[in-house]
Amino acid sequence: TQEKLPHGTLKTQLRGLTPRPPIPRYMSSRAPRRRLPSAFPVLDGAFQPIHNHVFEENARNSQVCLKRYMELKKKVLNGGGVNAIAHHTQKNKKVLVRDRLRMLLDDEDYLELSPFAGFGLPYGDIPSAGCITGIGKINGLWCVFIANDATVKGGTAYPITVKKQLRAQEVSMQNRLPCVYLVDSGGAFLPLQSDIFPDKNHGGRIFYNEAVMSAVKIPQVALVCGSCTAGGAYVPTLAEEVVIVHSIGTIFLAGPPLVKAATGEEVIPEDLGGATLHSEVSGCVDHFAAVESEGYECTRNIISTLNFELPEENTTEVEEPLYSAEELMGLAPKSYNYSMDVRLIVCRLTDGSQLQEFKARYGTTLLTGFARIEGHQVGIVANNGELTYEASLKGSHFVQLCDQRDIPLIFLQNTAPQPVHTLSQAEMNTNRLKAQGSMMSAVACASTPKITVVIGGCHGGDSYAMCGRAFDPNFLFLWPNARVSILAPGHADALVQEERETVHINELKKESTAFFSSGRLWDDGVILPQDTRKVLGKCLKIIKQQEYQLSKEKPKSQLFRL
Ligand code: COA
Repeated sequence: TQEKLPHGTLKTQLRGLTPRPPIPRYMSSRAPRRRLPSAFPVLDGAFQPIHNHVFEENARNSQVCLKRYMELKKKVLNGGGVNAIAHHTQKNKKVLVRDRLRMLLDDEDYLELSPFAGFGLPYGDIPSAGCITGIGKINGLWCVFIANDATVKGGTAYPITVKKQLRAQEVSMQNRLPCVYLVDSGGAFLPLQSDIFPDKNHGGRIFYNEAVMSAVKIPQVALVCGSCTAGGAYVPTLAEEVVIVHSIGTIFLAGPPLVKAATGEEVIPEDLGGATLHSEVSGCVDHFAAVESEGYECTRNIISTLNFELPEENTTEVEEPLYSAEELMGLAPKSYNYSMDVRLIVCRLTDGSQLQEFKARYGTTLLTGFARIEGHQVGIVANNGELTYEASLKGSHFVQLCDQRDIPLIFLQNTAPQPVHTLSQAEMNTNRLKAQGSMMSAVACASTPKITVVIGGCHGGDSYAMCGRAFDPNFLFLWPNARVSILAPGHADALVQEERETVHINELKKESTAFFSSGRLWDDGVILPQDTRKVLGKCLKIIKQQEYQLSKEKPKSQLFRL
């Protein structure tokens, strides 16, 4: 029949010509794709009796860490406290930030970034650093969100708030994710102005980033659902499309109290920079929403106009690991001395507990190999002892291999304390230094996505080769047991002999906890070991989305070149 003939056959036959074979459309983004089949070896994840005491000690430590994690989580959910919540909802008639996210996002399955940022800072505890950031789906599209929490000092920007917003923008840029701002902020927290205003990575950088993100076609939408005062006013004005909510949304460079002080005029916020003024007179905003719920509906509609073409939901079932993720609590090392073979961890993260090891017999203190996590092919690089000369060379080789094949890299970091070398070991030590330098170079220059999970120690130079924060991984998470410091606390004891130095060692212990790190935004959050696979799977999906954006950066137009 006519339907059975290859495309174009009938027309060609009618013209009396020999039909050409149909052109295969393998390159089309619409064509169904097929993965190459794999049968990677299954790792043995069973515990031996010899592991028992280490497992128990780690599990005990993990329980202590979990308790701290839950305490902080509770504090985070409490925002700026009971009084501030009442002020926000009853006096100001605004919706709480987490309820706002419920209205904005498709579901609650979002990835929150650094929820513990802001805790334990020299200037106090700033819950969630005064703004919630993360990645969630809007009409099926993963978007970064940056949402001020006005229950924390009127949503004002502390230095840590600025840092958190900049990191969220960086995540948006690095992974080409649209960015949605829910703005409700009194601008800079004035008592700390010198740490917010003047420097390169201070407040102004947020606006600079907005301009650059627009230029490289990363869509940005702002919803004004509160105050946008002074610097805060530039967030919506630099976004590409803006919605404002009537009676609660305002945008101005100086609020009514300043107007009164400067000119003696009494003016109400609505007249000075409210929704009617900005949507009818100044044109600063593009959409007027009568109530908050309408604002979220409008924002969601704007997102659906972005030029993305997402693939059908993948319904193929992924193979779960053969071993329980709960057991990771007993594998998360209390200290380096309580580390077990890292394969026991890897086989609790990968699909079917499978791993195709690379150079299994060489440089055995680093594990490298290919696996799948929730169906995504990845290259795994995991510390399994000292980063020796051989291990570093192997690491460089494997990282370059993944880069060449465009396979995302997962680093499982647990650095060993640096041994003190004698003079006779000088040559070995310098060779190792050189090889570690090569690995750092390979990691820094690899353009494939990278995700780092610190499962134990993050210390010294080894942490750079294992894609620490300075090496720009797309995401970096810590397990609650993780330790982050230039020297491992136990190892520093040996170097510092003076009694008075014990103060410094105690400080080092305190400053190296995962929660201390996360409070300062040296990472993207503390995650529980048993959630690692889920978080990695989500990150891999998020990173992949950029392949489906149709409106890509264009080369300069011919006209412009002329
Ligand atoms: N710097 C430091 N603290 C600020 C602040 C700022 N820019 N803006 C507000 N705060 C504090 C208030 O002092 C108050 O602190 P308290 O709870 O300890 O009393 C808290 O934030 C909440 O402010 P409040 O005015 O009670 O809440 P509100 O919901 O009625 O109003 C604002 C919130 C942001 C609209 C209002 O406080 C305001 O207009 N602030 C000034 C904004 C400004 O001029 N910024 C310029 C920055 S360059």
